[in-house]
Parts: sequence; C-alpha cells; structure tokens
Amino acid sequence: MTPTAVDASIQRVARFGATERRLHTIHASAFVVMFLTGLVLYVPTLAQVFSNRPVVKGIHLVAAAAWLTALALVAVLGDRRALRRTRREIERFDADDLRWLRRRTPSPQGRLNAGQKVHAILQAALALLFTVSGTLLWLSERNTDLRLPGTIALHDWSMILAGVLVAGHVWIALSPDKLPALRGILRGTVPAGWAASHHPKWQAPPAGSAQRAPRAGPVRLVAAAVVVASGLLVTAAFTGLAFT
Ligand code: HEM
Repeated sequence: MTPTAVDASIQRVARFGATERRLHTIHASAFVVMFLTGLVLYVPTLAQVFSNRPVVKGIHLVAAAAWLTALALVAVLGDRRALRRTRREIERFDADDLRWLRRRTPSPQGRLNAGQKVHAILQAALALLFTVSGTLLWLSERNTDLRLPGTIALHDWSMILAGVLVAGHVWIALSPDKLPALRGILRGTVPAGWAASHHPKWQAPPAGSAQRAPRAGPVRLVAAAVVVASGLLVTAAFTGLAFT
C-alpha cells in the first residue's frame, strides 16, 4: 500500500466515511442511555436509588424510539452505497480472517480485522433481539395476548451479552496500540504507517477522498420527513404509556 495523502506533517489515510461514523455515534450513544436506564429497571438496588421508575422507563423508551428513528434517517439520507460496501466487507471472511480467528496469529487483515467483523455481526444481531423483545414488552402492556414467556429473559440476556461485548470493545479500543483507530472512528482518518502495519491487505484511499454522502433529493427529503414523523409518533406513544 502506498498512501499518498498528506495531512499536516504526517500521512493519513481515510478509513471511515461520514455515514459509518454517524452510525457508530448514534448506536454507541443510544446504547449507553438504554443500558444505564435498563440497568436501573433490572437491578432492584438501583431501582430503589432511582425510585421514579416511570421516568427511568420513559427515558429508556424515548432513547429506543430515537435510536431506531436515527438509524432509519441515516439509512435514508446517508451514503447507502458506502454502507452496502461495508456490509459486504463485514460478511466476507477469507482464509486470513479464519486463521486470525482460530489462532490469532499475525494473519494480514483488511480494513476491518476478523474480530471487528464478528463484533459488528453480533451487534447487529443484538440490535434485532433488543428491538423485537423490547417492542413485545411494550405491546404486551397493552395486549395480554402478546405476553409471551421468555420475552423479559430474552431482553435481559441480550443486555448482559451486549454489556460484556461493549466492555471488551471499549477495553480494546482504549489500548495504546489502538488509539489511532479511535481517532479513525471519530474523525475518519488514521496514520498511514499504522494502517500499513495493522491492516496490510487494505488498499487505503488517501485522506480527503472519503466519500461524501450524496445530496438529499426531494424523494429522500420526503422519506426523511416520514421517518421523523413516525419516530415522533412512536416516541409519543412510548412515552404516553411509560408515564401512565
Ligand atoms: C428498541 C429497543 C428497546 C426497546 C423498545 C425496549 C423496551 C423496553 C421495555 C418496554 C421494557 C419494560 C420496562 C418496564 O416495564 O419495566 C424494557 C426493560 C428493560 N430494558 Fe429495554 N428496550 C430496548 C433496548 C434495550 C437495550 C439496548 C438495553 C440494554 C443495553 C435494554 C435493557 C433493558 C433492561 C435490562 C430492562 C429491564 C427488564 C427487567 O425488568 O427485567 N433495553 N425495555
């Protein structure tokens, strides 16, 4: 790989585009709010400390509705081609990835290493489980036919699994060796030398060449307005129930 871009005095290469970074920020910040409020709803000692359960539950549900709305907005307005490319990249495990997973020996990795691919797949699966179990919990308060055995257990176990996964993710992200990657997910670029040593199979584009999201045309703007309106409606319904 021969990076060509010059950013200030050191060479940097573009690793994450704006849409990917936004998705990460939305997912991470909503997760923190839902995790903390979920913990208060789940742990009796915490529930006693924060005794106003309807407010905690209201925040949990508003965060859930805002999270799903924001994800849908990114899908409508963001760079979908870049997202599709990333999805394909995550789904493809080559021989080096499998070797990396089996023995964790230095097998050359692409833009995302095999561990990051597995992490992204688990996060997507957990997001689906949270959405299905959380929506069922919410609906079952209105319609007892939807009170299925195991829904709460599914929601709780998803939280425990997600908590362990995110703790491991943050632990690795904060290790000195990975700090350039942290800047990559926040600002988009990483040092070219770091990319070459950690992700040698990646043909890194020069910094400044990160794809911009296409401008939103009228159809996309109408779709975005529909998403926002539905999000507000769902939030209002969630909050109405939470505070009653
Ligand atoms: C679309 C996403 C989500 C929805 C719709 C949702 C919805 C709900 C609802 C309706 C409850 C029941 C509240 C009550 O009556 O006490 C609940 C509880 C809970 N939620 Fe979520 N939630 C979502 C995501 C999450 C996430 C991401 C986490 C953790 C990372 C989480 C953790 C919890 C926990 C631990 C409880 C307490 C369950 C119990 O009482 O055992 N939820 N959620």
